Amino acid sequence: MPILTIESTCDETAAAVIDSDLRVLASCIATQEKLHEQFQGVVPEIAARAHVQRVIPVLETTLKSAKITGEQLTAIAVANTPGLANSLLVGLVAAKTLAWVWQKPLIAVNHLDAHVYACQIAAQKPVFPCVGLIVSGGHSHLFHYRGPLERLLLGGTIDDAAGEAFDKVANLLGLGFPGGPAVAKLAAQGNDRAFDFPKSFQRESRLDFSFSGLKTAVRYAVYGHAGQVDPQHPLPGVHLPDVAASFERAVCEILVEKSFQALAQTQAKRLCVGGGVAANRRLRETLTQRAEKEHVELHIAPPELCTDNAVMGAIAWEHFRAGQFATLELDIIPGLLR
Ligand code: KG4
Ligand code: ZN
Repeated sequence: MPILTIESTCDETAAAVIDSDLRVLASCIATQEKLHEQFQGVVPEIAARAHVQRVIPVLETTLKSAKITGEQLTAIAVANTPGLANSLLVGLVAAKTLAWVWQKPLIAVNHLDAHVYACQIAAQKPVFPCVGLIVSGGHSHLFHYRGPLERLLLGGTIDDAAGEAFDKVANLLGLGFPGGPAVAKLAAQGNDRAFDFPKSFQRESRLDFSFSGLKTAVRYAVYGHAGQVDPQHPLPGVHLPDVAASFERAVCEILVEKSFQALAQTQAKRLCVGGGVAANRRLRETLTQRAEKEHVELHIAPPELCTDNAVMGAIAWEHFRAGQFATLELDIIPGLLR
C-alpha cells in the first residue's frame, strides 16, 4: 500500500502517491510561476493563498490518477520544514486533516533531505552516505549525509541562495521569472570568459557560499557604478549574453569547487545534487567533468525532480521503516534545521 506525499514549501502545490519500492503511481504539480512573474520573485502571501485554492484539486487529481482511495494508503507524508511559513501551513493542515479522517499515520519530511533523496529515487539504488549539495531558490547548502535521515550541516549561503542569484540577475538583464532557465538560455549564446566575476571563499576552507557580491558585480558590469538598471540601455559595448554566460560560469565554478572541498574534508566518495538550480545544464556538465577527474560517484537528480515536486517526498518510506512518525501536534518549522 503506497504513501501519499504532499509538498507546499514554496510556490509549488504538489502531491504524489508512491509505493514502497519507490514506484510513482501518480504525481501532480500545480505551479504558480505566472502569479509571481510580475514581482520577479515569490510573494509569500500570494503563494499561501494560491496553495489554499489548489491543494484540494491537486490531492483529488493525484489520488484519482493513482486509482486509489484514502483508505488504501499506508501513511500520509508532508514537507513541514524548511520553507515559507504560510505555504508550509497549507500542506500541513491538509496532511493532518487527511491523516485524521482516514486514520493513517502522519510522516514529517524535511524538504532539503527530500531534494537529495531525489537522487536515490532516480538511481534506484542507495546513494548514501554522501555529500549533499542543495541549490534552489531558497537554499544553497552542503550537508554530510551518513544516511538518508542523518545529516550534518557543512555550510551554506551567508546571503542569497544560488537560485535567487539567478532570479535577480535575470531581473537585471530584463529576463523573465523564474530566472534560472532564462539566464541559461541567454548564456548559451555568450562568451563565458568575457567577464571575470568574483567567486567568494574559493581559497578558504570554509564551506560557505555568498552570491550577493557576484550579483552586484553583474550590475556594475552592465550599468556602471552609478547607472540605473535599464535592460534596454546597458553600458556601450556590453553584450548581455556574455554577461549571462560569465555569471553562469562563476556560479557553477563556486558550487563545484565547494562541493569538492566538502568531499575532501569529509572523505566522502559520493556527491548527490538536488534543487532547482541542479537543473542547470552547465552545472551538470561541470560537476560531471570534475567527478570523472576525481573519481567521485556523482548523482544529480533528473531535471524534473530538481525543481519542487512531491515525488521526492518518497523519503517518507525511510521514516516509515525507521518507525519515525509524527503526531497531529506536528507544526511547521520555516527555518533551516541543523
Ligand atoms: O527547488 P526549487 O524549485 O524551489 C525552491 O525550493 O526554492 O528551485 C527554484 C529555483 C529558482 O530560483 C530557479 O531560477 C532555479 O531554481 N532554476 C534554475 C534552473 N531551473 C530552475 N537555475 C539555473 N538554471 C536552471 N536551468
Ligand atoms: Zn525546493
